[in-house]
Amino acid sequence: TTRVLTGITTSGTPHLGNYVGAIRPAVAASHRDGVESFYFLADYHALIKVQDPARVQRSTLEIAATWLACGLEPDKVWFYRQSDIPEIPELTWLLTCVAGKGILNRAHAYKAAVDKNRADGEDDDAGISAGLFMYPVLMAADILIFNANQVPVGRDQIQHIEMARDFGQRFNHLFGKDYFSLPEVVIEEHVATLPGLDGRKMSKSYDNTIPLFAPRNELKKLIAAIVTDSRAPGEAKDADASHVFQLYRAFASAEETAAMRQAFAEGIGWGDAKQQLFERIDAEVAPLREKYEALIARPAEIEGILRDGAQRLRAKYAVPFIAELRNAVGLRDLG
Ligand code: TYM
Repeated sequence: TTRVLTGITTSGTPHLGNYVGAIRPAVAASHRDGVESFYFLADYHALIKVQDPARVQRSTLEIAATWLACGLEPDKVWFYRQSDIPEIPELTWLLTCVAGKGILNRAHAYKAAVDKNRADGEDDDAGISAGLFMYPVLMAADILIFNANQVPVGRDQIQHIEMARDFGQRFNHLFGKDYFSLPEVVIEEHVATLPGLDGRKMSKSYDNTIPLFAPRNELKKLIAAIVTDSRAPGEAKDADASHVFQLYRAFASAEETAAMRQAFAEGIGWGDAKQQLFERIDAEVAPLREKYEALIARPAEIEGILRDGAQRLRAKYAVPFIAELRNAVGLRDLG
């Protein structure tokens, strides 16, 4: 069997980028034969950015309800909260001791923070936590603790998967056995990076997101606010340069996409294009939104599902594997 694993950081409300980049492909993969799936809420990762406990808890509930609403079946896949698996931070330390600091220096998120400090005339590491620096090691532990083979993510996460391969390989080499299988990244080619309202990558950090389960009228308003150029109706438009088109393509079939490309060439007005985009997204999301509303009203049930998932997963994989790894590096056997 192939093991497919992915996580979402519990730092905010799930948006369309999370859905098309991770949730939709991951749920589809979980329905294929010969696949064992691991989907989790990355709440340790959230602490790197968020020091607001209520927000972390709310986001955890929202993201869990989102996975379930999108078709995840908790009795068929492993569904859990990262912080319910203490073997993950334990493996993080084992990997920290083999991870090259120079590799972490090159991580995009850390480098971007350093670049910003330089631009602001601050010290390189001003205000940067060691947690941000170590982020890729924690993520490698998420992946390697369950020996995942495939990790469906958006483009922004490719570098992290490469680092997980590097740390795993280094551990295998140093301790003389293939303890870890090396994960491969899986990218939805026609989605790549979903743009946000301002055309940059849709991201909680840019405040340019469209929440996946925004009410219909809010969804419509947000789509109307997507930045476009000033070409009038009747003027030909470049589909490939348009964020409206990129969003449409992420939700449409090949035929619908071809028809929209044609309409752009023929000068469809922005208002019309956005109306069609709204209808396309709403058609896909509306039935999920209804399930989400019902689920989010039952937090105790969701909590039970998460705890049960983590408990079974620890017993089956995490506890025995960490025992083997402790043994491999020369620590005492806790068993
Ligand atoms: P996070 O929470 O930022 O995003 C969750 C998933 O959504 C994808 N994504 C996008 N895809 C396409 N277009 C976008 N605009 C867009 N924005 C977000 C992300 O690529 C990601 O797949 N570090 C990870 C969470 C994580 C993880 C893991 C993922 C922790 N451990 C282990 C995989 C395996 C993160 O912060 O994703």
